Amino acid sequence: MRILVTGGTGYIGSHTVLTLLEGGHDVVVVDNLSNSSEESLRRVGELAGRDAAFVKADITDEAALDAIFGEHSPEAVIHFAGLKAVGESVAIPLDYYFNNVAGTIALLRTMQRRDVRTIVFSSSATVYGEHNPTPYIEKMEIGAMNPYGRTKEQIEDILSDLGASDERWHIALLRYFNPVGAHPSGQIGEDPQGIPNNLVPFIAQVAVGRREKLMVFGGDYDTPDGTCQRDFIHVVDLAEGHAAALRYLEGHAGVFRWNLGSGRGTSVLEMVHAFEAAVGAPIPYEIAARRAGDLPAFWADPSAALHDLGWSTTKTVAQMCEDHWRWQKNNPMGYRAP
Ligand code: NAD
Ligand code: WQD
Repeated sequence: MRILVTGGTGYIGSHTVLTLLEGGHDVVVVDNLSNSSEESLRRVGELAGRDAAFVKADITDEAALDAIFGEHSPEAVIHFAGLKAVGESVAIPLDYYFNNVAGTIALLRTMQRRDVRTIVFSSSATVYGEHNPTPYIEKMEIGAMNPYGRTKEQIEDILSDLGASDERWHIALLRYFNPVGAHPSGQIGEDPQGIPNNLVPFIAQVAVGRREKLMVFGGDYDTPDGTCQRDFIHVVDLAEGHAAALRYLEGHAGVFRWNLGSGRGTSVLEMVHAFEAAVGAPIPYEIAARRAGDLPAFWADPSAALHDLGWSTTKTVAQMCEDHWRWQKNNPMGYRAP
């Protein structure tokens, strides 16, 4: 298949492009490089033994998208492009709504005009909000708690309305839990700009000496060890979930929602200790105040993805940490030269 991947130079996108190339697909990546580097794609090409095409463009630019569809004639789209920092979305909500929601509308209008009606969309467990009991099930009523999460919820609504309006659409809404880890080669991985917002990239930068210590946000939650629990998923398992969703969509029209998670909760301190085991050295940390907006504990019920897609996670928390560490150790400054 010829697949257009928006946001394909980013963290999850680059791993998925590699999986697609290895699966024999042809790929064209569209990315504005606002949070990534073309170096990721060069390395993906090396690992796969063949390259994806790359076009630097912004998905809010419908004319540019139209030209790309004209030139590359994709048959399906995997749509990762978006801004993803929760705190930043509270500070600059218009940028988030414009980039994520208006950008997706421009993409969908182009797809409709060009007769491409298969799309896999990066949604997030954050859409489940604060009122649902864990584990989360796809049929639960959603209700995001911040502007970032609301962009995901709004895009899910737009895609649902689109699927209901025309039965020729094949739409997958993939709700990722907490993606971590890196390709086992250590060649591609997550490369956050500035201070990492997320737990594992922060731990990795402490381990490599770029930061002094980890602040553990809250040690007094009603959880087994007092720290929050999350459902961490290895990015390679996540990439394979996209390939599985595409295969399903080939045979099924409609709108489908799947959780991509392991179904297990791991606490912040358990993650710190698993990373210490991978590194073979202690990670300095301090218990600090809770972070506003954090939920104590949630994980996926991943049974729908297993039932429909035959997909489930295969990689352990230990492998997530080992692979994340290999990437960080080999590339202490990420894709920028050390
Ligand atoms: P990322 O920032 O590494 O990748 C996103 C890519 O999109 C980047 O390469 C960025 O340059 C590009 N981009 C952003 N706006 C664009 C625009 N207007 N036009 C073209 N390119 C644009 O993030 P990621 O972690 O790989 O996340 C990929 C997707 O998955 C995002 O939509 C994110 O919201 C979603 N998601 C991520 C997580 C997570 O924890 N990483 C969890 C759930 C959902
Ligand atoms: C995990 C746990 C923190 C950093 C976020 C988004 C969500 C999704 C995934 C995109 C929490 C604790 C963290 C640190 C810490 N992204 N922590 N010290 O908040 O579950 O989810 O990323 O869709 O939408 O909200 O992930 O990695 O930020 O935090 O103690 O320096 O680690 O408090 O308990 P989160 P996270």
